[in-house]
Amino acid sequence: METFEKNDKRTHYCGTLSAANAGEHVCVLGWCQRQRDLGGLIFIDLRDRTGIVQLAFDENTDKVVFDKAFSARSEFVLCAKGVVRPRGEGAVNDQLATGQIEIAVEDLKVLSDAKTPPFPIVENSTTNSETRMLYRFLDLRRPDMQYNIMARSRISGIARQYFAENGFIDIETPTLIKPTPEGARDYLVPSRVHPGCFYALPQSPQLYKQMLMYAGFDRYFQIARCYRDEDLRADRQPEFTQIDLEMSFADEEDIIRLNEGFLKRVFQDFMQLPLETPFPRITYAEAMRRFGSDKPDTRFGMELCDLSHVVKDCGFSVFADCVKNGGSVRGINVPGGASMSRKEIDSLTEFVKTYGAKGLAWYKNASTPSSSFAKFLSEEETNSILHTIGAGAGDLVLIVAAKDKVVFDSLGALRCEIAKRLSMIEKGRYDFLWVTEFPLFEYDEEDGRYYSKHHPFTMPMEEDMEKLTSDPGAVRSRAYDIVLNGTELGGGSVRVHTVERQKQMFAALGISEKEAEEKFGFLLRALHYGIPPHLGLAFGLDRLVALLLGTEDIREVIAFPKVQNASEPMSGCPSAPDDAALEELSLQICTEMENI
Ligand code: AMO
Repeated sequence: METFEKNDKRTHYCGTLSAANAGEHVCVLGWCQRQRDLGGLIFIDLRDRTGIVQLAFDENTDKVVFDKAFSARSEFVLCAKGVVRPRGEGAVNDQLATGQIEIAVEDLKVLSDAKTPPFPIVENSTTNSETRMLYRFLDLRRPDMQYNIMARSRISGIARQYFAENGFIDIETPTLIKPTPEGARDYLVPSRVHPGCFYALPQSPQLYKQMLMYAGFDRYFQIARCYRDEDLRADRQPEFTQIDLEMSFADEEDIIRLNEGFLKRVFQDFMQLPLETPFPRITYAEAMRRFGSDKPDTRFGMELCDLSHVVKDCGFSVFADCVKNGGSVRGINVPGGASMSRKEIDSLTEFVKTYGAKGLAWYKNASTPSSSFAKFLSEEETNSILHTIGAGAGDLVLIVAAKDKVVFDSLGALRCEIAKRLSMIEKGRYDFLWVTEFPLFEYDEEDGRYYSKHHPFTMPMEEDMEKLTSDPGAVRSRAYDIVLNGTELGGGSVRVHTVERQKQMFAALGISEKEAEEKFGFLLRALHYGIPPHLGLAFGLDRLVALLLGTEDIREVIAFPKVQNASEPMSGCPSAPDDAALEELSLQICTEMENI
């Protein structure tokens, strides 16, 4: 191996060279993508984060340099100096950005050799994700991962610039904190100095950003790391990043306009696409009724249709009894879906069962109709269903009868699943949507109590305040989400800023005065000291970048993500602490618990 010396500094990145550099002496540094030995000639494709350039070696120019080129293998780290020249007739490579030129190498250093990598360092890897994660540093060398990670940096750069231009101050908030009630489980960090006490890693900077408004900073912004101990999904990591903001003396119109401006800027600068604003807004109630989801994908139709009034007295007891018992019967119409096989419909039935539905009633409106339920209904009743749902010739009607939550969850997911299976989603389409007027509380059947849908600092809608004790589930909040193509990209709310209202909220949640004092005493005390009206929002940066890059898996835009079981295979975390560390922290691992 040779030494990297001060005159070995890069003059150009590989991918930036072009015919305009012909005749220039350059120094390039990077990794050997491949080496081709053509007898008296050797070619090496040298790769750095900008692309690839061809290095050319001729046996007749310098034997020592030629021998080094001969020994170079995949992923060796090389420093090459030479002259840029146009490629010979017939050697131009139109597939490569630098394909017009090559470097006639005069000096070559091998700065590092390399074992054969466990997978090829190429675009569109077919390597399984376990191996990719185990060798993430090599996976990150692949051009598509390099692009993703650099794109992320550009997007967060645009965010910093946009919010700074709009008067937002970048302030860091602590990451060893008292738990924030954001709904997920906390990651706890033991304190050495306070035996038996723990910090929590922040689920978001929520309370601190409110405190910054109390402190008069007026407009706060941060690219903030957040930690939530919840099950992983394609769009969910235990450790993720928010573009987090808060502003005083402003209302929903201001925050919506500001953030539409931000997304417009990202689209203009990063995607080079115009984005039309304002985005549509719908209330939570309308989103559920029409799409069965509070994050509707509006790139396709198949909206839900309430059939309860049509079937409430019909002869099919599954439908009629469901309505009588307070549930609902709703359906979607799949255009052209009558051509689906029984097997395909059976797999859709299995799909809705995972959302708690007991079954999926169907009607194929083909020239010879067939149905799972028509035999229980009169022709008039069946026609009334078809008419209400708007089924045309060749369509497929799918119906779920259950309590509202199950109907919405299952049909909401089903319409997305079918749109995917039948390729109904237009590529390159970006449907943004604000969802407003979320319920303030959510009832948990298992615990038999209400929880905040957003967090307990969210302002209720004034006109619903009278229902706070009589019908808490019906109280709407001043919370809003921003949705893109069916993914919740961000969310926020107007905050409570008076002590009376905050106490009312805790009481409505069944949080006793003692518990409120213990958990949020600092907040309640602070609310006595002249608090400005304020509101905020946080985007999921990982989700935003993933959607803009056209991937559904946020791991593709995070340098070192966690895998399914929340571990990080490359470094092997989490791992068991040694006994000395435990002792210092006054902790003991209970072995019986270890097996749970
Ligand atoms: P919320 O909990 O809605 O709001 O989070 C805001 C956004 O963060 C993203 N997000 C996640 N991304 C990846 N992995 C996760 N586990 C994960 N959880 C959330 C989503 C989500 O829309 N403090 C409030 C914001 C506010 O009120 O200002 C909050 O955190 O894109």
